[in-house]
Amino acid sequence: MTDDGTAGPRPARTAPPGGMRAAVIRRYGGPEEFRTETLPEPVPGPGQVLIDVALAGLNYADLHCREGEYRRYPLPAVLGADVVGRRRRDGRRVAALLRSGGGYAQVACAEEAFTIEVPDGVGDEQALALLEQGATAYGALTLLGRLRPGERVVVTAAAGGVGHLVVQLARELGAGRVVGLASTAVKREFVRSLGADATVDPADPELAARLGESGGVDLFVDSVGGGVLRSGLAALAPFGRLLCVGARGGPEESFSVAELAEGSVGVLGFWLQHVLDDRALFASVAEHLFRLAGEGRLVARIDRVVPLDGVADAHRAMGARETMGKVVVDVRREAGAGWQGTTDR
Ligand SMILES: NC(=O)c1ccc[n+]([C@@H]2O[C@H](COP(=O)([O-])OP(=O)(O)OC[C@H]3O[C@@H](n4cnc5c(N)ncnc54)[C@H](OP(=O)(O)O)[C@@H]3O)[C@@H](O)[C@H]2O)c1
Repeated sequence: MTDDGTAGPRPARTAPPGGMRAAVIRRYGGPEEFRTETLPEPVPGPGQVLIDVALAGLNYADLHCREGEYRRYPLPAVLGADVVGRRRRDGRRVAALLRSGGGYAQVACAEEAFTIEVPDGVGDEQALALLEQGATAYGALTLLGRLRPGERVVVTAAAGGVGHLVVQLARELGAGRVVGLASTAVKREFVRSLGADATVDPADPELAARLGESGGVDLFVDSVGGGVLRSGLAALAPFGRLLCVGARGGPEESFSVAELAEGSVGVLGFWLQHVLDDRALFASVAEHLFRLAGEGRLVARIDRVVPLDGVADAHRAMGARETMGKVVVDVRREAGAGWQGTTDR
């Protein structure tokens, strides 16, 4: 129950015609910078479509964008890189990736090429969780990681939005052994429930040795960087690949060619943009993920659903490493102070 005795969050305040409610930042900074405001709806340009958004997703990169690092969107800015809702032109249910932000709002403007229809068997929350993070997980494992059946895979932040899908997809693709890194016992239990053979605390002082057990690592999927990445490199088996999909701040690691040659190992980097740039590839990856979800072979965990004015709390939770799986914003709802959203679903 909410403070005012109603059974859940209220519908968002009604915006005037041509207006929409949105979570806005007017300065770069902490989560406290978010304000829920009425803004004019975006105006689509050539090749763009309007989407009446139902749900928007949080991605870790949003935290960097909010702080003015990574993509420095002009202020005032509406962040949010993935949405699901109805395409206004034809009312079709679609999911879309927004390369210029704009997701935390009731109306989003998407490139038509980065928009995909959602099949009936896949719910809004699953579609949202699978598009950005699922395509990253699948693209990394297959396009660049070139995972072969029987190979040994390690993934960092394995309980996270990308990580928990990497664990499931690695299994689906026939990995011989899957190991997930996660910082708490609860997260590690969750990762094992996804089918990981083992889990390791990234703070383990013997991390490289632990990862090197069972003959070393063939594919190390890293989204953390720093010492964890170094440990992953040290644990690679001959012909192993370290695949970087992201980092969480701190100095970048560098490698010498001699170091790589001595171990017969490779270091690779993946950016989802290059999947999006190829419409046929993007569509086939998204359709594959939706098919797996429709068949129940890939299940995204929804960590929590917050109302539009819960974006600040959601950013705080993700920055504090409290989330597991996908964090969702229901842009159709506003709660006012006191409502904590739906957690641990
Ligand atoms: N290359 C691409 O195209 C692409 C696309 C999408 C996402 N990404 C990257 O993939 C990574 C995962 O993204 P996501 O949206 O799924 O986020 P996420 O993994 O759900 O982020 C939250 C988790 O990150 C882990 N983490 C590790 N170091 C952290 C730190 N210093 N501060 C806070 N959390 C930390 C924590 O797990 P533990 O506590 O268990 O360590 C935390 O629970 C990010 O680096 C993101 O930039 C890349």
